[in-house]
Amino acid sequence: EKEGYQHFMIKEINEQPKGVSETLMRRLDKEDHIVLDGIELTKEDLTHINKIYIVACGTAYHAGLVGRYLIEKFAKIPVEVDISSEFRYRDPFVDENTLFIAISQSGETLDTLAALREAKRKGARILSVVNVVGSSVARESHDVFYTWAGPEIAVASTKAYTTQLIAMYLIALHMAKTTDVICDEYYQKVIGELKILPEKIERILGDIDRIQHLADAQFNNESVFFMGRGVDVNVAHEGSLKLKEISYINSFAIAAGELKHGTIALIEDGTLVVALATQDRLYEKMLSNIQEVRARGAYVVAVAKEGNKEIEKTADVVLYIPDTMDELTPVLSAVPLQLFAYFIAVARGCDVDKPKNLAKSVTVE
Ligand code: M6R
Repeated sequence: EKEGYQHFMIKEINEQPKGVSETLMRRLDKEDHIVLDGIELTKEDLTHINKIYIVACGTAYHAGLVGRYLIEKFAKIPVEVDISSEFRYRDPFVDENTLFIAISQSGETLDTLAALREAKRKGARILSVVNVVGSSVARESHDVFYTWAGPEIAVASTKAYTTQLIAMYLIALHMAKTTDVICDEYYQKVIGELKILPEKIERILGDIDRIQHLADAQFNNESVFFMGRGVDVNVAHEGSLKLKEISYINSFAIAAGELKHGTIALIEDGTLVVALATQDRLYEKMLSNIQEVRARGAYVVAVAKEGNKEIEKTADVVLYIPDTMDELTPVLSAVPLQLFAYFIAVARGCDVDKPKNLAKSVTVE
C-alpha cells in the first residue's frame, strides 16, 4: 500500500500535486468559472450573510486561518476562526445570517461535529469542507465541499491540508464572484496561478535532498520556533504542529511582530528558528525580525520565494519555494515544512505514521 515509500506520510506528501489538481480542476469549467456542486450559495443567500465562522481542530483549524484571510480579502465578509472545542462551549453569537464553515478531513471529529450541531440549532447555514465522503460532518451539513485528497492514512495530516487550502480559495473566490466584489482581472490572475500550483509543488518535491540534509543536521534540537507575518504565520502554526506531533520536539509558532513582546527572551545561541518570509508586502519587516533573532545567536532557516538571493545574507539556510502571488504561498510553503518535520522525525527514529498518544480521528472529547 505504501507503494515503495517508507511511510504513508511521505507517500501522502508526494501525492499533493495530484490532490491539489483534482480538488481544483474538478471545480473549474472550460472558461475557468468555479462550479461548486453540492454548494448552493446564491447571491441572495450571500447578501444575508453578515458573519462567517470557520470552525475546526488541529491542521484543519490552520487551514481555516488561511480561509479567513482569503474570504476577507476576496469576498469582503468578516470571518472568525475558532477551535471546535472552544466554539461549542463559549456561547458564540450565531443566527440565521451566519454562515458556519466546518473543516474536517475525517468528518468524524467529535468536537467539530458538536460545534456544527450547536450552530445549526441556532439557525446558521452549514457548509463543510470534508475529505471523507458520507462522513457525519458531511451528512449533517447543508452544503458540502469535498476535498479530493484521497484516503489519508498517516496521523499527521499533509495532503488533506493543502487540498483544504484549495477548497478555501475556491469558496472565497466563488463568494467574491457571486457578490461582484472582485474584478475580473484579479480573479483570472488568481485562478491562473492556482492552476500552476501542482507543478510548483512537484518542483519542491523534486529537490528534497537539501531538506533532508538540513533535518539530519538539526534533529537534535529540543525546541524550535516558527514565525511569520500575514498569511505566513498561519503556515508557521501548521509547520510547528507537524514537527511536534511526529518528532516530539517542543515547537511553537508566533507572529513575528510578537517577538519583542516575550518570545525573544528565549532566544539563545543555537536556538533553531524557522522564519517564513514569503510575503513581498511584509518582507522588510520579516527581515528585521530575522536579524533580531540572529543577533541573539539563533540559527535561522528561512522559507522564501525563489529569486530572493538577498535573504541568504541574513538567514543561515534558505528553503526556496517557486515564486507565486503572496495570496497563494501557503500551498507551497507548507510543503518544505512537512518535509522538514518528516525527515527530523525519521532521523530521531520516531514512529512517523503513528505518533504516540495520537489517533487519526478524534471521536471522543
Ligand atoms: O479529521 P479532522 O480534520 O477533523 O482532524 C482534525 C485534527 O484532529 C487533525 O488535523 C490533527 O491535528 C492531525 N493529527 C494534524 O496532523
